[in-house]
Amino acid sequence: MSAQLLGKIDLDKDRLAADIRALDTVEFSQVYADFACGRWDICVLRNATGSSTEQKIRTHDAKALPTPPSKHVPYINELIERCFRSDGIRYVRIMRMGPNSCLIPHQDYLELNDEYVRIHVPIETNDRCWNTEDDKIYQMRMGEIWFLDATRIHSAGCFGETDRLHLMLDFQPGTRLSEVVTDQVQPAELRPSDPRPEMPRKIAEAIDGLGMVLSKENFRDVVAILSKFHFHYRSHGKDVYRWLSSLCEKSGQADMIQYAKEIEKYYTLSRQPDTVPRI
Ligand SMILES: [Fe+2]
Repeated sequence: MSAQLLGKIDLDKDRLAADIRALDTVEFSQVYADFACGRWDICVLRNATGSSTEQKIRTHDAKALPTPPSKHVPYINELIERCFRSDGIRYVRIMRMGPNSCLIPHQDYLELNDEYVRIHVPIETNDRCWNTEDDKIYQMRMGEIWFLDATRIHSAGCFGETDRLHLMLDFQPGTRLSEVVTDQVQPAELRPSDPRPEMPRKIAEAIDGLGMVLSKENFRDVVAILSKFHFHYRSHGKDVYRWLSSLCEKSGQADMIQYAKEIEKYYTLSRQPDTVPRI
């Protein structure tokens, strides 16, 4: 499948703002920070045990239990019960991204033995927030309910001046999209656009030129530059790894070439939990 707009929630802005203010008092986790360039943290609202110590997801098949931070967001809890078929929910999280941040293109569930049905609802965003899937780019707008096919290579970026907060719900593997939302959600209109220009040849040459200055100390910065180029120029998520491989070859440094292969494998092919490759 690919990303699909399932509907829209009419948000009560004042009640939502009160919940978001309350989240300022909650400690977010950086447990998935390795997927990001910039600030990317999460708050688990429902999980398998109801415990705040369970931050990483795993496969389980019981109705998700509320964690202590969920007490701070009564309006969001109400939305979940009103707009979603909550028996099928396995995790609920708030994913927070800071300005000028993005994710390294990746595929999810590689460390799990099954694939959840993942839903996003933007609850704070700006007009410079984007998502990508393969070679496509699109925007999720406030209150929209999106299925995100996280088995495809995808990314997300926040390039405006404010945070991007998404409510993210994982449903039981195999859940049909027709079984996700209730009749309380409104239909929504898709507005496709891809403002990215073709990458000029000079920029492509400049990417290869980064091989001249590549080092262990700036490798992660180079990955961040390439991940952001994916949003700025028409490209596929896999192109980030193609550009990286090419500039590493140009650097002539065997350990960099090897590391580029390892991180491509980790983010897009296979990974074990807690085994992030380190250079
Ligand atoms: Fe993801």
